[in-house]
Amino acid sequence: MEKRRILHIFTPEKHASPFEVNMAVDAGYDVVVPYTQVALNDITALIQDAIFSRRVEDSRYTGIFIGGKDVAVAQQMLSQAKQAMYHPFAVSLLADPSEAFSTAAAIIALVMQQLEKSSQNLSQQKVVIFGSTSALGISTALLAAKQQANVTVVSHRSYETAQTIADAYSARYRLKNLMGADGSTVETRLRALENAIVVINAAKTGTLVLKRDELTTAQYLRVAVDTNAIPPAGIAGITLKDNAQLLGIANDYAVSFGAVPIRELKYKIQHQLFQQMLSTEQSVCLDFHNAFEIACRLLGVQP
Ligand SMILES: NC(=O)c1ccc[n+]([C@@H]2O[C@H](COP(=O)([O-])OP(=O)(O)OC[C@H]3O[C@@H](n4cnc5c(N)ncnc54)[C@H](OP(=O)(O)O)[C@@H]3O)[C@@H](O)[C@H]2O)c1
Repeated sequence: MEKRRILHIFTPEKHASPFEVNMAVDAGYDVVVPYTQVALNDITALIQDAIFSRRVEDSRYTGIFIGGKDVAVAQQMLSQAKQAMYHPFAVSLLADPSEAFSTAAAIIALVMQQLEKSSQNLSQQKVVIFGSTSALGISTALLAAKQQANVTVVSHRSYETAQTIADAYSARYRLKNLMGADGSTVETRLRALENAIVVINAAKTGTLVLKRDELTTAQYLRVAVDTNAIPPAGIAGITLKDNAQLLGIANDYAVSFGAVPIRELKYKIQHQLFQQMLSTEQSVCLDFHNAFEIACRLLGVQP
């Protein structure tokens, strides 16, 4: 008899995300079990408990999902989980904290597809991201930086907050093109926006981050993305369903993307990540790199 497909969700948070449970079942898992308030030093024991319970040839029917809200913690858990395997006893792993990896992959692939229409790419282009300390903000920044963009992450708290995040991730991923900026006043936000080609809002839901007249500072703007789905818009002038809509702010060619097209693409990406875990003969270990590969494939974009 074919084994039932079981997904174990590990999260440091108080609750596992219902979104992740639904996504996992829709992708084909029969049983989804959440483990909450999991610490990094719990991972080895949990993994080794999981890998020895089924025959090696049935290992694809067990998967591990690492959630939570912190990108660095999720990546550490993923690497700890990988190290805890005893081959050939191994199960597939996926990290997607706050769905930030699949969402960031959707955003950057949509931006790249848009730039390709005018024979451009992200290399050496200024990308400004608001919400530097959110999982989505930093995941988006990492993917843009890996495409050689010059990435500025903006914190509404202070320059130091943004730069601390930029330094930590630059060191972890050996990046030289990630920097922090202050977004605490209109003046500092305008300075951050100067010469921006791409502006992305990944700040707190339902918070107006950029007013219309502030965005006009980005006079060379090509793409503006607002990930916020709950009114008011994070970037004034962008609506939920915008999907490469002419923005009519800053210049006559900038376009906008709202939360709906991002969510639709993100959904497909996370679905395919789960299906990759379920269909593979060899165990896989998936993170934002794999989410981005899928996003590019779905949109026909060259990574
Ligand atoms: N469309 C989609 O599919 C999708 C999927 C996932 C998430 N999202 C959206 O992504 C955004 C981020 O989500 P999250 O859960 O990762 O965010 P979060 O943890 O709630 O907050 C994100 C960041 O917003 C900044 N922030 C907080 N208060 C602010 C204020 N008053 N003004 C300006 N910035 C402020 C903070 O960063 P700093 O201190 O660095 O400023 C904070 O770390 C949300 O809008 C969410 O709806 C969209």
